[in-house]
Amino acid sequence: MIERLAIIGVGLIGGSLARALRSAGAVGEVIGCGRSLPNLERAVALGVIDHYNQDPAAVVADADLVFVAVPLGAMRGIFASIQGHLRPHAVITDGGSVKGSVVADARAAFGRIPPRLVPGHPIAGTERSGVDASFPELYRNRRVILTPLPETDPEAVQRVDWMWRTCGAQVNRMSVAHHDEVLAATSHLPHMLAFGLVDALARMDETDEIFRYAAGGFRDFTRIASSSPVMWRDICIANREALSAMLGRFSVELTDLAESIRRADAEQLLDIFERAKAARDRYVDGTKQTPAPVTAKGDLTGESETP
Ligand SMILES: NC(=O)c1ccc[n+]([C@@H]2O[C@H](COP(=O)([O-])OP(=O)(O)OC[C@H]3O[C@@H](n4cnc5c(N)ncnc54)[C@H](OP(=O)(O)O)[C@@H]3O)[C@@H](O)[C@H]2O)c1
Repeated sequence: MIERLAIIGVGLIGGSLARALRSAGAVGEVIGCGRSLPNLERAVALGVIDHYNQDPAAVVADADLVFVAVPLGAMRGIFASIQGHLRPHAVITDGGSVKGSVVADARAAFGRIPPRLVPGHPIAGTERSGVDASFPELYRNRRVILTPLPETDPEAVQRVDWMWRTCGAQVNRMSVAHHDEVLAATSHLPHMLAFGLVDALARMDETDEIFRYAAGGFRDFTRIASSSPVMWRDICIANREALSAMLGRFSVELTDLAESIRRADAEQLLDIFERAKAARDRYVDGTKQTPAPVTAKGDLTGESETP
C-alpha cells in the first residue's frame, strides 16, 4: 500500500498509474502537480487525484512515493525543485522514455544519484496526451523496464517493482545504456518513420489528393504520428546518439530496398519481405496478448512504446 502518492505530470502516463493503483486499492491519497490548472482540475473531477499543488516541492513534502511523468525536457527542472524537500524514506521513480538523460538530470539536480531513485519506463501508451487520455488498464499485460544503478537501494527497487506489478505489468530490469539502445530500435525509430512519412506527404503539392486515398495500411502505420510533438522532440534529443545510429542503419536498409526495386530484383525483394513477415509474425503478432519474450541479454524482442 502507498499511503501518499505524488504524481508530477498528471497526463496519460501519470494519470494511468494513479487510476491503476486506485482500482487495485493500493493507494491512499494521490496528490497531483502540473502547470495548467484546467488539467489538474479535470484530474480531480475524474477522480484521478485527490488534490493538487502547482509547486513540485509542496507535492512531494508528505509523499511516500513520487512518480515523475513529465516530458523529458522538464525532468531536470522538476528534480531541482524537489531536491531537499523529499521525506528521507520517499521513493522516487519516473516514466521517462529515455533513461540516460533522466539519470544525467538526476545527477545534475541532486548532485549525486539519490539511492531511492529508481529510473523506470512503462512500455505502454497511446498517441493521446493529457489526463483525459488516461485509463486504469493501460499497464495491464505490458512491460515496465527498471534501470536501477549500482547506488540504488534494493528496497526502493522492490517497492517500484511491486507498484508496477500491482498495475498488472511485467517488470524487467536492464542497464540504462541497453534500455536506450533497445528503445531506439523498437520505439523511437518507428516513430521517426511515421512522423517523417506523414510530414513528407503533407508537404507535397497534391497533399489533399494523397490523403484522400490513404487506406487502412496508411492509417495503421502512421497512427503514432499523432503522438505529442513536444514529447517526441524531447525523446529525440535525449536519445540522440542511439537514435542517430539506428537511423543510420535503417537508411542503409532503405537504400538497399530502393536499389532492389530499381533493378526489379524480384528474388531480393521476396527475400526481404519474407524475412520481415516471419519476424513480425513471430515477435509481434505472436506476442499480442502476453508481453514479448526477453532474450538472455534482456532485449525486448519486439514491442512499440505506443501499442
Ligand atoms: N505517451 C506514451 O506513449 C509514453 C509511454 C511511455 C513513457 N512516456 C513518457 O512519460 C512521460 C509523460 O508522457 P505522457 O504521454 O503522459 O505526456 P502527457 O499526457 O502530455 O502528460 C505530461 C504531463 O506533464 C505535465 N507537465 C509538462 N511539463 C511540466 C512541468 N514542467 N512541470 C510539471 N508538469 C509538467 C503536463 O501538464 P501541464 O502541461 O499542465 O504542465 C502533462 O499533464 C514522458 O517523459 C514520456 O517520455 C510516454
